[in-house]
Amino acid sequence: MTMDVDTVLQSLTLEEKISLLAGDTFWATRAIPSKGVPSIQTCDGPNGVRTRDTTATCFPAATSVAATFDPKLAAQLGRALGREARNRGGACVLGPTVCIHRHPLGGRNFESYSEDPLLTGRMAASMVRGLQSGAGVAATLKHFVANEQETERMTVDEAIGARALREIYLRPFEMVVTGGAPPWAVMTAYNKINGTHCDASRWLLDGVLRGDWGWRGLVMSDWGGTNSVAASLDAGLDLEMPGPARVRKGPRVLDAVWNGEVSEEVITRRARNVLELAKTIEDARSAISYTPQSKEDEIREHGALVREAGARGIVLLKNEGNILPLRTLGELRGKTKLKIACIGFAQEALIHGGGSAGVNAHYSVTPWEALQAALGDSVELTYAKGAYTDRYLPALQNDGSAGTVTGLDGNPGFSRVFYEEGATMPSSTAHGQPDSTYSPLGTLESLWKTLELVCDFVPRESGQHYLSCTGIGPTQVLVDDQVVIDQQRNCRDPMGALFGAVAQDEIRHRFEAGRAYRVVVRSRPPAAVGLEILEGKTGARLGFALASARDADLQADAVRAAAAADVALVFTGHTPAWETEGRDQASFHLPRQDALVAAVARARPGATVVVNATGVAVAMPWLGDVAAVLQAWFPGQEAGAAVVDVLTGRVNPEGHLPVSFPRRIEDAPAHGNFPGEYGPQDGKLRVNYAEGVFVGYRHYDRIPRDKVNFPFGHGLSYTTFDLAGLQVKTVGRAAERDKGEGEEQNKFILTASITNTGSLAGATAVQLYVGRVAESADHPVKTLVAFEKVRLEPGEKKEIELVASARDFAYYEEVGNKWALDSGEYRFLMGFSAENIVQEVRARLDRDLAWKP
Ligand code: BGC
Repeated sequence: MTMDVDTVLQSLTLEEKISLLAGDTFWATRAIPSKGVPSIQTCDGPNGVRTRDTTATCFPAATSVAATFDPKLAAQLGRALGREARNRGGACVLGPTVCIHRHPLGGRNFESYSEDPLLTGRMAASMVRGLQSGAGVAATLKHFVANEQETERMTVDEAIGARALREIYLRPFEMVVTGGAPPWAVMTAYNKINGTHCDASRWLLDGVLRGDWGWRGLVMSDWGGTNSVAASLDAGLDLEMPGPARVRKGPRVLDAVWNGEVSEEVITRRARNVLELAKTIEDARSAISYTPQSKEDEIREHGALVREAGARGIVLLKNEGNILPLRTLGELRGKTKLKIACIGFAQEALIHGGGSAGVNAHYSVTPWEALQAALGDSVELTYAKGAYTDRYLPALQNDGSAGTVTGLDGNPGFSRVFYEEGATMPSSTAHGQPDSTYSPLGTLESLWKTLELVCDFVPRESGQHYLSCTGIGPTQVLVDDQVVIDQQRNCRDPMGALFGAVAQDEIRHRFEAGRAYRVVVRSRPPAAVGLEILEGKTGARLGFALASARDADLQADAVRAAAAADVALVFTGHTPAWETEGRDQASFHLPRQDALVAAVARARPGATVVVNATGVAVAMPWLGDVAAVLQAWFPGQEAGAAVVDVLTGRVNPEGHLPVSFPRRIEDAPAHGNFPGEYGPQDGKLRVNYAEGVFVGYRHYDRIPRDKVNFPFGHGLSYTTFDLAGLQVKTVGRAAERDKGEGEEQNKFILTASITNTGSLAGATAVQLYVGRVAESADHPVKTLVAFEKVRLEPGEKKEIELVASARDFAYYEEVGNKWALDSGEYRFLMGFSAENIVQEVRARLDRDLAWKP
């Protein structure tokens, strides 16, 4: 028998109901065992269950999943993720993330799907279906809404028009929430929209989500994203996270009820939603039989899925002279032993981005390991790092690389010494800390203490070595009592610091080999950050690099390796420090890698292949000089194997770009309006979504084609496809009724035939766009309305049928607050990318259509 919500609710006192409205711990809701209320255990996040003490499968990040254009695969991944959560006692996964890639520098784009709302909505809906049905685990759709930047994400005020909100930013949420398998929970975004924090926006939660869309489920805040007591309760925010309560702590909520700021009825409604979520999970679990996987089964089954999915998400952007797959190349050259130079991130696996989407993976496969496993002795592999690509100097530690590090107790490592404010004697000391990092992530209590990280450091070599440091609050670094770094204020980016590793500008300091230096990092708690989650949280990190390591000419080694090889593979990308939650990207250019690629391409002309692992588009100034480019994204723990599967042709590439790749950042739609402007009076960041609905290809369609290196939807294969015979089969009213008004929904059914004209089996994503025949400055040239992944044997031909629902290319009319579609003539465009349109037909819509929101 599962819980009877009404009975439980009636048995709860007002105080008990209030106690349910904030987390109990950092990850779980409060249980009231005497009343039969269970706790709900949450866990991050979209591409793997984030655990500290155990490992879990690192799945491909959302951008990689979107690139498969295969919702069925997304469902499989969702199912596997749900099982992993359940295997670890989780009941509610904090994902998927369905924010939009508004700008290529968005720090968290990698964990969102696409620049296009329809692709995002369809992939996420499948993922949610898989997640919730597989193991009785709730999905939490996040971040509602418009968390498209990390800069000042907790306070930024975004000015977004109603059309852009409805057509672009709310649309994926709407699709998932109103689809066949709605999520059981939604997480609000940190940011403000048009002046109101999302967690306190009655319009958003009560109006759009529960009103317009009729959704029933639990709304929780993002971690530390509850900004008010009464307003958030009234607006519809059920649960403050994390726990224990910060904003809803102590008597605050009760006081608000007594003062008449919130009614008891609202408290009961919020508590009901918490109970309903627990019941939904219980009900789902009692309807399925579930056996937890053993760790071995999990690793084997999910590892294979990750490898397949990761490979299928890789996009072959360019393949001049069919240099790929590598096997063919070896055969063509008649070589017995192909010489391959592996440069860049060849011996590192770029499996995920940084922040809460990071996963403590079961294992990870580097391209180097995978190349050896796949090609073995048939090739000769050489390696060169090529460039210094760390974002931050490595944390100083006693691993021998820099010298020896000894704590105050004479043992290896650092000592951490805490002082009460103003005290001269420490209140506590912990010796034997592995390195110079102290991150308060996950720490519940504010310390309000000064932290000292202390060691005696004996450098391995003499030199003008590199040092860098940031603390969350004011921080100094002292070498033998001399202040060498003096950060006087809070870190400029405290949320970034929370994630471990924000470094200030580097300095250089002279050290002599063999001499002992007393190094002290002294960090005070931050002064008034204005964010409850960071209040009083001390944290700091000291970075260090030997001059010889940092100043070595890595590029020259790479050029030599390339010149001596038949093919040069350059693995470029972003480490989790470069592409991460908490910070937006520093630049559109790959960090310190453009010169390397260009130099290698000069050394190995016609045979340089770039494999790029980023969650976003990057500048490719060397594009014309390299023979091939693969966009690998962050494909999960099998990263190297997935990449090598495509390089060798074991997998025929079939990924398509879920985002456009502009040539220059200046041509990006949000350029000039990202990340916004600080107000001269109040110093607060505001951003204007001035591009309106013209996001991604909706913008690039209106500017010259040569501004884009690779368009949305682009993706090559080792075979070729032909698309023909596009026809409108049906125009008019389909049987399905539109929910809101019971008005009949118009659909256009289109048919075409697709043939594999090459000699290899392969798959491609056929895309259907719709636009108006009469051009209009107010509307996109075209909008993606449907897509289908088609798999074909060589020579095989298939008939395909794609459906364009009128609602998917309707626009939002701000004046009447309704969805509308004008009668008139429309172009239906079918092709393999937003630019490569192969077939076009026209059809008329014979009357104006309108829907309630
Ligand atoms: C992130 C969420 C995440 C939560 C818990 C927040 O900082 O924005 O996406 O689920 O932390 O880790």
